[in-house]
Amino acid sequence: MLDIRDLYAKTGMFTFNPGYTASGSCVSAITYIDGGKGQLLYRGYKIEDLAANCTFIETCFLLLYGELPTASDLADFEERVKDEMLVHEKLKDFFKDFNPKAHPMAIMCSVIGALSSFYHEDLDIEDPKQRERVAIQMIAKFPTLAAFSSRTSMGLPMVYPRRDLSYTENFLHMMFSDPMDQEAVIEPVMTEALDKILLLHADHEQNASTSTVRIAGSSKANPFACISAGIASLWGPAHGGANQACIEMLQEIGEAENIPKYIEKAKNKNYPFRIMGFGHRVYKNFDPRATVMAKMCKKVVETMDSKNQEMLSIALELERIALENDYFISRKLYPNVDFYSGIVLQELSIPTNMFTVIFALARTIGWVCQWKEMMSEDTVKIGSPRQLYVVEKCKEFVAMNER
Ligand code: ACO
Repeated sequence: MLDIRDLYAKTGMFTFNPGYTASGSCVSAITYIDGGKGQLLYRGYKIEDLAANCTFIETCFLLLYGELPTASDLADFEERVKDEMLVHEKLKDFFKDFNPKAHPMAIMCSVIGALSSFYHEDLDIEDPKQRERVAIQMIAKFPTLAAFSSRTSMGLPMVYPRRDLSYTENFLHMMFSDPMDQEAVIEPVMTEALDKILLLHADHEQNASTSTVRIAGSSKANPFACISAGIASLWGPAHGGANQACIEMLQEIGEAENIPKYIEKAKNKNYPFRIMGFGHRVYKNFDPRATVMAKMCKKVVETMDSKNQEMLSIALELERIALENDYFISRKLYPNVDFYSGIVLQELSIPTNMFTVIFALARTIGWVCQWKEMMSEDTVKIGSPRQLYVVEKCKEFVAMNER
């Protein structure tokens, strides 16, 4: 097999591959994607089977340990996660000083990074047991901090997690419960829908944010700081910000009769406009997560007798028109998971600026598993891509008074 490092050592050649579309950066046993077939596997299991039969927390166990849990494994795991859901009281002080208009992703980048100040001195990342604990701490504390960041941005008091609730119920409880009576009315379909969103977004091999976590971690940096770097990368509208951007686009479209205008705008190279929630770097046939999400979206909208019926109709019509259009057909552009997840989140009354936070909440298990996998390798190679330098080499220096 060709070893690229060998080739470089012998010839000085290296590959130029912007966006790394044709470069494998690591060996991994976590997630498999076949973009041509529209297939996504977590630890060998099809995403459709997991979405139909498992909860998100069960999927976290699978991603973390490589096997589906038994009932008692799962019960123990859920307890371990609950044990870690609270955060240090000092961390809550951070929330007081953010700009009241701060985007919750800005808050999350900071407070997740700030966890490194509580878990650093005594943390030995060479110890597999400690790495496992970091993974559990990350997935346990994330929903608590995410709900705190949402409530802070709305000026509402924080609500703590409860031991009697499941992982996903706890997040909805911390988001929506009234602190006076500690109860929120959470319809079972809301828990099911959010759990599905979390499961579908849990891992997706070497995308931008996961690669960011791996590159940051390859220098043996603090894992909480590495996850914060992943959150920053996910924030962009071409990655995790797509579902927020998609809802905003559907709102802007407003009525089905405006759809053709937007399709033409997306096709016109003079406009920097894309149909959000369409296209994928890897899936060039269909995104299997989008199929599950579209079904869930219809179920939620029907069950909750929704105010979002109109928006769903516009989305369905946009999908229909785009999939019959040569521009989208020839470029293999299909709806991705975020085309429908925004409508579901809106249906759950999740504020729009929290959409990307929910994606980050889901992806945390993927990030931390990928970090853990990399850290367990015998040698961790620091990630440092090369560049193609394009300006003149070695100019004569010109003194200030001669320029
Ligand atoms: N609307 C209109 N045209 C598009 C779209 C779109 N959503 N996506 C790609 N195209 C066009 C491009 O203009 C380009 O056309 P050209 O060949 O005439 O220049 C062609 O399709 C290929 O586009 P690339 O940007 O090269 O495709 P790439 O695979 O690099 O990008 C991406 C994938 C970033 C997801 C892109 O499709 C996009 O911007 N989509 C909208 C944002 C989005 O939904 N992001 C969520 C991704 S899924 C996730 O993160 C969970």
